Amino acid sequence: MKKVELGKTGIKVSRLGIGTGTGLPSGHCAQALMETKELSRLLLYSLDCGINHWDTAFQYNTYPHIKKALQQIRRSDVVLTTKFSAAHEKETIRDFNITLKDLNVEYVDVCLLHGVRTNTELKMRSGALDAMVKLKKEGKVRAIGLSSHGLSVLKSVLEIPELDLVLARINYAGLNMDSGSLGMYDQMASVYWLKKCYKLLPERVKSLIRPKKSHLQPIPEDARNEVEETLQKIHSQSKGVVGMKVLAEGMLRDDAEKAIKYVNSLSFVDSFIIGMLNKEEIDENCRIVNGENQALEGV
Ligand SMILES: NC(=O)c1ccc[n+]([C@@H]2O[C@H](COP(=O)([O-])OP(=O)(O)OC[C@H]3O[C@@H](n4cnc5c(N)ncnc54)[C@H](OP(=O)(O)O)[C@@H]3O)[C@@H](O)[C@H]2O)c1
Repeated sequence: MKKVELGKTGIKVSRLGIGTGTGLPSGHCAQALMETKELSRLLLYSLDCGINHWDTAFQYNTYPHIKKALQQIRRSDVVLTTKFSAAHEKETIRDFNITLKDLNVEYVDVCLLHGVRTNTELKMRSGALDAMVKLKKEGKVRAIGLSSHGLSVLKSVLEIPELDLVLARINYAGLNMDSGSLGMYDQMASVYWLKKCYKLLPERVKSLIRPKKSHLQPIPEDARNEVEETLQKIHSQSKGVVGMKVLAEGMLRDDAEKAIKYVNSLSFVDSFIIGMLNKEEIDENCRIVNGENQALEGV
């Protein structure tokens, strides 16, 4: 598997990364529901296939699985990305320290502000960004960035020198990608206290607010072009660009090859994360990425 540098961070990752936060229609995380042994074996299998880029988050509940896999390799064999949803400095440092303990590691490679939707939200979470800058200075984090859930935030990455990289939604169909207009759930989730209130709602009400996958519409063509142009600009600033939702959370599973080839063909995407739930998906996706890259390099 081809390795690439994430922007100018000095961090080398495989072109294809593995996600551990695939959402199920029930709202649960598919990987968190797997037995610790099962997911840790799958992660180790992915490493055997050359995938050294593992994606998690404080919220996914997959730290126990990752910890188990890490026990069997050298820490430097993998690049770990995690994300935090806290808004303030103190809370972020607290969650980061829990992360080090839960994963039994001394550092995290990449730390991201998790799922930022608007610039107002980004401002409200400036304490969390300050915490990450501090952690990087202390050598506990190698690179920092944000995962983007809105076009305005994606554009802001260009203006914030502290951000080394971005994790952005990208697929050929424009499904569930960043756009300028937010649905009801995203509007609620972008306001810190409303997001906390949302968690307290009964499941029945939550399901009315949260968009159903089957109802998702592609973003307009001009918004998709804007996302790609923005990612291109971010990349030309020597920041890292990592793609996610390449299969639109599984909605493009019948066109997996086309979906993967599309993102793999984008020169401004350094690496991309796919939620792979079994060995067959890892084999298939490695075959596609390796085959394409060999063809591109004329091997
Ligand atoms: N930062 C954020 O805000 C954020 C949010 C959510 C997720 N993430 C991260 O990004 C990762 C990727 O997102 P995602 O997992 O939601 O979506 P995704 O990668 O677009 O899609 C994952 C789904 O694709 C299917 N799949 C994978 N390989 C396939 C193949 N070869 N053939 C057919 N189907 C295939 C699997 O579906 P089946 O069910 O059919 O196996 C899997 O559930 C997550 O795992 C997580 O680590 C980040």
